[in-house]
Amino acid sequence: MVLLKWVLGSPRPMVRSVFTQYLPSEHLSYRYHEAMSTMRVPPSIEEVTNLLRAVIDPELGSDIVELGMAYCAEVSDRGEVVVAVKLTIGGCPLRGQIKKDIESRVATHPGVSHVKIEWGEMNAEERSATMAKARWNAKENAKETAIPATTRILAIASGKGGVGKSSVTVNLAASIAAKGFTVGVLDADIWGFSVPRMLGLDQRLEAEHDPISDRPKIQPNQRVVGKGLLKVVSTGFLVENESTALMWRGLMLTKAVEQFLNDVAWGELDYLLIDMPPGTGDVQMGLARMLPRTDMIIVTTPAVSAQKVAIRAADMARRSYLRIAGVIENMSAFVCDHGTSYPLFGTGGGQALADEIGAPLLGQVPIESSVAEGGDIGEPVSLAGIGPAADAFRAIATLIVTETVPPVQMADCSARTFSESEVSLRPREK
Ligand SMILES: Nc1ncnc2c1ncn2[C@@H]1O[C@H](COP(=O)(O)OP(=O)(O)O)[C@@H](O)[C@H]1O
Ligand SMILES: [Mg+2]
Repeated sequence: MVLLKWVLGSPRPMVRSVFTQYLPSEHLSYRYHEAMSTMRVPPSIEEVTNLLRAVIDPELGSDIVELGMAYCAEVSDRGEVVVAVKLTIGGCPLRGQIKKDIESRVATHPGVSHVKIEWGEMNAEERSATMAKARWNAKENAKETAIPATTRILAIASGKGGVGKSSVTVNLAASIAAKGFTVGVLDADIWGFSVPRMLGLDQRLEAEHDPISDRPKIQPNQRVVGKGLLKVVSTGFLVENESTALMWRGLMLTKAVEQFLNDVAWGELDYLLIDMPPGTGDVQMGLARMLPRTDMIIVTTPAVSAQKVAIRAADMARRSYLRIAGVIENMSAFVCDHGTSYPLFGTGGGQALADEIGAPLLGQVPIESSVAEGGDIGEPVSLAGIGPAADAFRAIATLIVTETVPPVQMADCSARTFSESEVSLRPREK
């Protein structure tokens, strides 16, 4: 008890975050949340630096701290943070993206009130040091990470199962792919997978020799969607049927997810959507370690009682410094043809959660039999379906690609072409 008091009362958020990982989250989330919302202790320089490590220079493929492009210059008592950034070339269009990523990452710390960026430009010497570092990293990391640095990663999570995580994952993935993007879907619900059925895929996964890493790599199942493409990996493609998935109980969840991230030949991806297993913190922690640039989307039902459970998922994200990109309310009021609204699972929960955790409400998907039917026949309703649920999924997908988490734009970065020949030394999968 004394330890708990000391941890929760500690003015150093880092101390809290390290210790609170090991405490049962039911006891913790409320106290933790309460503590976080009332204390607002500014971060240390070191904590800001750790947050900056989640910002990847998409072209060079490493984080901006490691590349020597950014450091935390100052943190005031009022939580105003100054980050100094030196771009390889001042006019590079990636500047806007780096700015947005820095601001949103650093703002995940509850003690931060404002983020200011001081821009600079590298001289020739600094530039060549950065390029050398990028080259070295590319060589060292080539064997481990199969997710391109330009991929936007969205983890779809919730406090508990049955709220529609998998339905949201497949419908958003299909809808984003329909816009012409290549979208990976990683079914991280190792024991309770439903992605294969919902996307109408059942082929066994095959491994092929990968010439780049000189190892066998798992080839994801693919489904063409309009001009786009889905690349899907699930334990459902490895076991005979849904009941034999129990076999995997002995497998460590984090290890399985790690293997799907590293040993799959993902190739080029604009987006990777991860259907998270319900409730577990260790997968979030693993993701934060392996892919700190992951954005979380929290799915909740409209019932206000669901919010406590959903806040726990948000707390877990915060503790591992993952950004919460937004909230989706699923199973919202069903409106019949006569215009009568049937709020079967209550109302207002999505907005309440969004307000509570300070993230936008990306949309509300009404409860509709077409969603469940689409899942059963492997045809996501967001593709050719009609009705408010299909429209809601498509609107959220549009919001994501245009505003919330737009794709990394690599085109027209001509200011950097001189360095492209150096970067092209990096092994890239085609
Ligand atoms: N908006 C909705 N309208 C109707 N049924 C839905 C909706 N969202 C999900 N469902 C159904 O609810 C059940 C649980 O959804 P699922 O996506 O599997 O949840 P989770 O992955 O969170 O466990 C499924 O049978 C699914 O078809
Ligand atoms: Mg599911």
